[in-house]
Order: sequence, then structure tokens, then C-alpha cells
Amino acid sequence: MTSAVVATAYGGPENLALIDVAVPAPGPGEVAISVLACGVNPIDTKVYRGDFGTDPAGLPKRLGFEAAGVVTAVGPGAVGPEGPVAVGDEVIAFRVTGAYAGDLVVPASEVVRKPASLDWPQAAALMLTGATAVHLLTATAVADGDTVLVHGASGGVGLMVVQLAALRGAQVIATASEKRHGLLEELGAEPVTYGPGLLDRVRAVAPDGIDVALDLIGNDEALEVSLALVADRERIATIANFAAGSTGIKVLGGGPGADPGDEVRAAARVPLARHAGDGSLVVHLGATFPLAEVAEAHRLQLSGRATGKIVLLP
Ligand SMILES: NC(=O)c1ccc[n+]([C@@H]2O[C@H](COP(=O)([O-])OP(=O)(O)OC[C@H]3O[C@@H](n4cnc5c(N)ncnc54)[C@H](OP(=O)(O)O)[C@@H]3O)[C@@H](O)[C@H]2O)c1
Repeated sequence: MTSAVVATAYGGPENLALIDVAVPAPGPGEVAISVLACGVNPIDTKVYRGDFGTDPAGLPKRLGFEAAGVVTAVGPGAVGPEGPVAVGDEVIAFRVTGAYAGDLVVPASEVVRKPASLDWPQAAALMLTGATAVHLLTATAVADGDTVLVHGASGGVGLMVVQLAALRGAQVIATASEKRHGLLEELGAEPVTYGPGLLDRVRAVAPDGIDVALDLIGNDEALEVSLALVADRERIATIANFAAGSTGIKVLGGGPGADPGDEVRAAARVPLARHAGDGSLVVHLGATFPLAEVAEAHRLQLSGRATGKIVLLP
């Protein structure tokens, strides 16, 4: 048996509970993992808040899409993207379901090696934001010399986009609250405060124009400013505004009518681990919580006061 987090009803974090679940032996192509850290993402609160429906048949609902830990058993033919997986391997599991647990049995295809230099919380918090960032940059063909406007650059996805865009040779204009400007400057971006007057502030810091706009927020301001600055709508993408498809921009992710980008996101995992391992990509951690304090972790996520990724420790 192992402990796992479930939502017992739709609503807020008061509906989260830790339950005992059986851990089956891994079948063909599967591995068992003793989990040492699980990454928390906004989607984890949205799935039981009711954003994707409130079907009672979906309860109790296991939570979490990414984790890191040590392989404890392997089924026959357990081969991941980097080759055979063995007992004792330190790994990152993404994308998996029900990742908030002490032990997991997952397809070996969802497992990549954890770089030795990465600690467990960083490893657990790398992939969902990192793969989303790669999808955004790939879908809009960001390349050397581009100037990229990122709405919501100080969040988990945003900090990945800022760093990965810089690795591609792009200049980043980053919207964020003022308290996050210092970090964005350290990462080489030009920070701009969001809110009324954003369009003029962006024009002032990017007089030669914006080539690409990436919306990680989903509000009217991000959409309107992006449309005003970027003529080529194929080079505007959102991961948070699923109603924006009618404007001709790219809508990415798991929402209705969006491009899930499964292949590009899966292919991003090994390069992301390599970048994080050599220090060219940093996972900015905010807070860690014991798995049993998941409700508190989600309250922090929902408050918007987290200063980096939130991680649960089984
Ligand atoms: N479709 C997909 O595939 C996909 C994948 C991952 C995430 N998402 C979604 O993308 C969004 C961002 O995810 P995340 O993990 O980066 O969230 P996060 O870590 O919680 O960050 C959210 C950030 O939003 C910033 N913010 C709040 N209001 C803003 C505004 N009006 N303008 C600009 N920035 C603002 C906050 O920055 P300040 O502290 O500076 O205010 C905060 O850092 C979420 O809605 C998430 O569900 C979608």
C-alpha cells in the first residue's frame, strides 16, 4: 500500500484527502517508482475546482502530473526514451496521472533520467512547465534575433519560457508585478509591469517591434496587446485563453480546440533534463510541503503569493 492524494468532491482544497491505495507489480513496459517529490501546477487545482466538468463518476480523483523518485521494480520490456530502465535508477516521471503519491506504477515511456546535479524538488518541478514552454517556443518558431513578449513571465511556465527563449538567442520582454522584476532582469529579460498602459510600456522598451507574443495569463489585456503588436497571428500563442482561437492565434494545451502538442512536449523531456543538469536552465522553487499538507500547498498556489514552484514531499 502507499499514500495518495485524492479530491473527494469538486470545489476547494478542503476536499483533498490522503488515502491508502494498493501498488500493483509493474506489468509489461511499466516501472514502479518510490516517489521523493511531486510537482504542483495550477492544473492540479483546476481539475477538482470543476473547470473540466463535475462528473460524480470522476470522484475520488487522483491528482498530480509530475514526480521524481527511484525505480524499485521493472516489468518486462521496461524501455524509456533513453533506453532500458533499471531498479535503482533516479528518474523523473512526466506526464503521469495521480503523481501525488508515495509510490507510482507508470509506463517506462513516461520516465527520463534525473540528472545527478538536480535535487528531488527541482527534478519534480521541471517538466510540466518546461515542456509547455518548449511547445510555446516551437509553435511560434522563436529563433535567434526575435523579440518575444511574454505575458505572465514570473510564473512557473514564464520563467521557463524566459530562459529557453534566451537559449535560442531571443530577447524577452517580460510582464510581471514589480516585486519579480529583479529576477527577470537576472535572467536577461526586460521586465514590464502589467496592467493599464501595458501597450505603451512595451512599445517604449521595444521600439523595433515585437516578433512573437506568448500569453500565459489568458485575460483580455494579454490578448489585445498581443494582437496590437504582432502582425503575424501564427506567432501569437496562448496556453490560458481557450476562447481565443477565433482570432487566428495558436491555442496550446489540453483545453477545447487546442493543440495538445503531445509529441513536441514528450520530445522536450530529455533536452530539458540535460539543460537543468548542466545549469543552463534553473527551476525556481517557492515552497515545499509534506504530502499530507497538500491542502495548504494548494491554498498557496491559489493565492498567487508563491514565489516559485511548489513541491510536495511524500
Ligand atoms: N495549456 C497548457 O498546456 C498549460 C500548461 C501549463 C500551464 N497552463 C496555464 O498557464 C497559466 C500559468 O501557469 P503557471 O504554472 O506559470 O502559473 P503560476 O506559476 O501560478 O504563475 C502565475 C503568474 O501569473 C502572474 N500574473 C498574475 N496576474 C497577471 C497578469 N494580469 N498579467 C501578467 N502576469 C500575471 C503572477 O505573477 P506576479 O507575481 O508577477 O503577479 C504569477 O507569477 C495557468 O493558468 C495554467 O493553468 C496551461
